[in-house]
Amino acid sequence: MIRIGQIGVGSWGRNLLRNFAGLRDSRVVAACDANPEVLKGIGRDYPAIRTTTAPEEVIADPEVDAVVIATLPVTHYVLAAQALEAGKDVFVEKPMVLDVGDGERLVRLAEERERILMVGHLMEYHCALLQLKEYVDQGELGAPYYLYSQRVNLGKLRKDENALWSFAPHDVSVVLFLLGKEPIRVTAVGQSYLRKGVEDVAFAILHFEGGAMAHIHVSWLDPHKIRKLTVVGSRKMAVFDDMATGEMIRIYDKGVEQNVDSPSIGLNRPGEYATYGESLSLRWGDVLIPRVVMTEPLRAECEHFVQCVEKRIPPRSDGRDGLRVLRVLDACQRSMEQQGAPVALG
Ligand SMILES: NC(=O)c1ccc[n+]([C@@H]2O[C@H](COP(=O)([O-])OP(=O)(O)OC[C@H]3O[C@@H](n4cnc5c(N)ncnc54)[C@H](O)[C@@H]3O)[C@@H](O)[C@H]2O)c1
Repeated sequence: MIRIGQIGVGSWGRNLLRNFAGLRDSRVVAACDANPEVLKGIGRDYPAIRTTTAPEEVIADPEVDAVVIATLPVTHYVLAAQALEAGKDVFVEKPMVLDVGDGERLVRLAEERERILMVGHLMEYHCALLQLKEYVDQGELGAPYYLYSQRVNLGKLRKDENALWSFAPHDVSVVLFLLGKEPIRVTAVGQSYLRKGVEDVAFAILHFEGGAMAHIHVSWLDPHKIRKLTVVGSRKMAVFDDMATGEMIRIYDKGVEQNVDSPSIGLNRPGEYATYGESLSLRWGDVLIPRVVMTEPLRAECEHFVQCVEKRIPPRSDGRDGLRVLRVLDACQRSMEQQGAPVALG
């Protein structure tokens, strides 16, 4: 039984607490929030959980095995570092931290202390995305040409981090997870309309070795609520729509193929064949909507953390995964600050 102490039980933290409290192998023993009003609700709903406004009490509590951090990102580094130093395993919400140097320090600290460090990259625990990853890995889509992801809605506006840092950790983690590699270069633009210096909308492009690209559009100032990812591969195309309950994945057997009787003609050299139809043919095949057996992604994520703590194995979204995402976000931020100038990643 893993005993959890949670810091931050605001709107998202409540969901984490509900899950950790409901798992067979974990028990929430302490909850902390700087806002006493928030704690009143916890006391009412979970009378057995000790509550406090002081994070250091949870971190020092000998009854706590693992600390779950769901406070605002600007506080993540200090709280996570203190918890690791106190010998606790740590789950920290996304974005792991807001600074690459802090991220590196956390990863080092976790490794030195042999502690589990997991980041809340929720999408990596989403059944539909895992299914899509299988299609990609098995070559069902062919070589991924390009991806684009949209995560937009109206609110919740943040003031410490912009829409890129608030939303795009999910999209970046998804793209890195699906492609299994990191970009070599990014470009990004964004704009702040509501609060000076805090971008409400951002468009980022991640460039990968070999030519694959991923476009990410995030905004909290948009009339639609969209959570959609399209993957265009050399054989097939796929769409993952997180809002389409029951039909989250669609695999389109669509593509453009080179005709066998003109083998020397390459897709990238259109000028070399007599007519368009001679060399290329469009394939309009069937659309497959695979059945996805859904479990709550957050429950799967919490279960995974508890299992990793029990078995002492690195989580799928461990600190190093958090750091990879952080480096991409940081590069996008630097590109935005230079009006979209390309920023290379090492
Ligand atoms: N994985 C997801 O899909 C997802 C969704 C939403 C939010 N989040 C993440 O969860 C985290 C929290 O977001 P939220 O929407 O719940 O914000 P929120 O403002 O609703 O809640 C944050 C809570 O933390 C408390 N807090 C702040 N600093 C504290 C400190 N030093 N000690 C103790 N308590 C402190 C606040 O009082 C507040 O109740 C963020 O990192 C956010 O990015 C993740």
